[in-house]
Amino acid sequence: MRLSLVGVNHQTAPVAIREKVAISTERLGEALSRLRAYMPHGVILSTCNRTEIYTIDNGSVDDGNASLDFLTARLNGPDDKLRRHVYVSTGAAAVEHLFRVASGLESMIVGEFEVLGQVKQALAAAEKAGMVNLPLRQAFHSAIRAGRHVREATGISKNALSVSSVAVDLAAGVVGDLKKCKMLVIGAGEAGRLVAKVARDRGTSRIVIASRTKDRAQALAATFNGIPTDLSNLAGELGRANIVVACAGAPHRILGVRQVEAAMKERPGLPLVIIDIALPRNVAPEVGQIANVFLYNIDALTEISNSNRKQREGAIQQAEGIIMSEVDKFAAWWRDFEVKPVLGALMSKAEEIRAAQLNKTLKKLPPLSDEQRQCLEAMTRSIVTRLLQDPIQYIKTNGNGNHSEMLKEIFQLDTEARG
Ligand SMILES: NC(=O)c1ccc[n+]([C@@H]2O[C@H](COP(=O)([O-])OP(=O)(O)OC[C@H]3O[C@@H](n4cnc5c(N)ncnc54)[C@H](OP(=O)(O)O)[C@@H]3O)[C@@H](O)[C@H]2O)c1
Repeated sequence: MRLSLVGVNHQTAPVAIREKVAISTERLGEALSRLRAYMPHGVILSTCNRTEIYTIDNGSVDDGNASLDFLTARLNGPDDKLRRHVYVSTGAAAVEHLFRVASGLESMIVGEFEVLGQVKQALAAAEKAGMVNLPLRQAFHSAIRAGRHVREATGISKNALSVSSVAVDLAAGVVGDLKKCKMLVIGAGEAGRLVAKVARDRGTSRIVIASRTKDRAQALAATFNGIPTDLSNLAGELGRANIVVACAGAPHRILGVRQVEAAMKERPGLPLVIIDIALPRNVAPEVGQIANVFLYNIDALTEISNSNRKQREGAIQQAEGIIMSEVDKFAAWWRDFEVKPVLGALMSKAEEIRAAQLNKTLKKLPPLSDEQRQCLEAMTRSIVTRLLQDPIQYIKTNGNGNHSEMLKEIFQLDTEARG
């Protein structure tokens, strides 16, 4: 049994591939049900930077391919198109990767806080779908603990940026002073909230928040002195905005060429900057070809993300040390988890044999005093304990699934029967 990981992220796949395998929060439950047809236990972590499937497998080649088949089915295209972008890892490497993800080391914006919440949500969704067994739960709890520890003990998240704040910075870099700008934010989830907050903090003159559900747009607008609107009213707002930040969790495009072309006719000579950080993208890529429209998707944030990473190099090294010690702790737990049932079965079997043999012997002997019986009990127990002491200690310290299997075979142990 081992932890297995199959995934794509911003380092291995462009946005056009990532968006095809991305799974929105709304569709996560449905996707987990589909994953169950491939693997009984799994967690899907799908964020703007990655889609990763963590499963517990039995170490067979078929197990390794199951998550890959699930991901390929989502791509709805030829296998090789995805395989070039996919990473696969198992055992300690998969555990380390999960811990790095939760710590923000694998994020486009190193040290961001959001990913820790997304890891927790991924686990909660899988728990709800009944897809989490004990080792998977423990792996995720340990990753979350590692993520917290890293943030507390290092400067990795000091003055942390987020994809949303970097998107606003990118827009400001293109248009200049935000105090003279009107911004339209499409999406009122966590990403929209962060965009609106940063836009307000930077003094953006007018912030309009559009969401599918009116109440949600209203609530966010009220928090950040914005103006709520709904998605059916985008045309008018597009005519007024200098910047659009698109971050709705929709599985389809929200802004198309015709809509943006029509809006641009209403504002001759006025440029429009669109930053689309949604995955799948909210804005059709062809919109970038319209005159005076400057369209950036999430991959355009790479330059800012690289300089953020450079500034945090010292903290990254410290974080890696913490992660390795957390991985070691988890490995010790896993070892214990794997060998405990078989060691229990071994001790039970030894005790059964000892007790049976002692009974046989007692029947053949003349009646003994209580003290004599206790002496024999203690002596036989001590033989069994001393005989098993070294092998048990060895297995506890160095053992793994293979040792367990070997012990089961040699001593004919039945771990199932013990429950
Ligand atoms: N969370 C982050 O830190 C972060 C960072 C960068 C990029 N992103 C990307 O930003 C997007 C939003 O993520 P999120 O974390 O903010 O939360 P989310 O729950 O995925 O998105 C919530 C927003 O998306 C809207 N939405 C959901 N399904 C929709 C649909 N079918 N049609 C139209 N609108 C729909 C919701 O509308 P209602 O008003 O109906 O609720 C709400 O405004 C995702 O693509 C994500 O990958 C997120």
